[in-house]
Amino acid sequence: MASTSSLISAASRRLEGKVALITGAASGIGECTAKVFAHHGAKVVIADIQDELGHSVSQSIGQNNCIYVHCDVTDESQVKNAVDKTVETYGKLDIMLNNAGVIDEEKPRIIDNEKADFERVMSVNITGVFLGIKHAARVMIPAKRGSIITTASASSYIAGVNSHAYTCSKHAVVGLTKNAAVELGQFGIRVNCLSPYGVATPMAKATCKLDEVELENLLNSVANLKHVTLKAEDVANAALFLASEEGRYVSGHNLLIDGGFSIVNPSFEMFQYPDHDQP
Ligand SMILES: NC(=O)c1ccc[n+]([C@@H]2O[C@H](COP(=O)([O-])OP(=O)(O)OC[C@H]3O[C@@H](n4cnc5c(N)ncnc54)[C@H](O)[C@@H]3O)[C@@H](O)[C@H]2O)c1
Repeated sequence: MASTSSLISAASRRLEGKVALITGAASGIGECTAKVFAHHGAKVVIADIQDELGHSVSQSIGQNNCIYVHCDVTDESQVKNAVDKTVETYGKLDIMLNNAGVIDEEKPRIIDNEKADFERVMSVNITGVFLGIKHAARVMIPAKRGSIITTASASSYIAGVNSHAYTCSKHAVVGLTKNAAVELGQFGIRVNCLSPYGVATPMAKATCKLDEVELENLLNSVANLKHVTLKAEDVANAALFLASEEGRYVSGHNLLIDGGFSIVNPSFEMFQYPDHDQP
């Protein structure tokens, strides 16, 4: 029978022996997830276009467990190369996390939105995901296993929170996730996506032109779940669940990490406690 300490160590190394490729892992949610996956025993390949940052994240994780590959997810040859480099270096690919994403400047009127901006967002956020799923599937199908995860957004589910292009691209991720889960299920490959509420990453801070404290205060003020702030680690832990054995029968799912933000219409103020009843 396994000793308690070996059970605890297995629980704390939930990706032992696994190999993960994470796009957009030089920064924000991807960087944090790369560190969490490595902490749980995975070999990690960081794929990004920010080479200096990517190398420094890879070095901080350690050269025995992590490499950096330059990869623009909109370029099929670079996505193919990232997948091939992963297999060449670590022998296989168990987990593909399509996390790279961009957002355009928010303009309140559609008539002010440029086609080029729309297409740039779609190109990274959905064409890039299509290419990631395609090339991960290429090497996972013969292995008859694998977990493919994409970072979508609460904007995959609700409207009126982000730009037209971003909202479109994240809704599209859900459709592609479901279709790919149906196709790849016959090969034992699971396909899921994650939909976080706002996290104060470099992307979110730049978009809102706020520092971390200001942005978290703003997000908390409109959040449904109070007394807790969503952090990149919370998204990384959800990815860990989908990547690990604990998620072995979860496929075609859009896992919302939004504290209930997307299910409530706050206009009704249905459960507003009178001030004197506040605990
Ligand atoms: N921060 C949030 O509030 C939030 C909420 C929901 C979903 N998301 C999603 O999380 C993902 C990560 O975003 P983040 O907030 O950590 O932002 P971030 O800007 O910190 O990280 C995004 C990373 O993607 C990389 N990237 C951009 N274009 C690329 C391309 N063409 N090829 C390869 N890499 C590219 C960037 O260099 C960067 O390292 C995105 O898909 C984003 O849409 C973010």
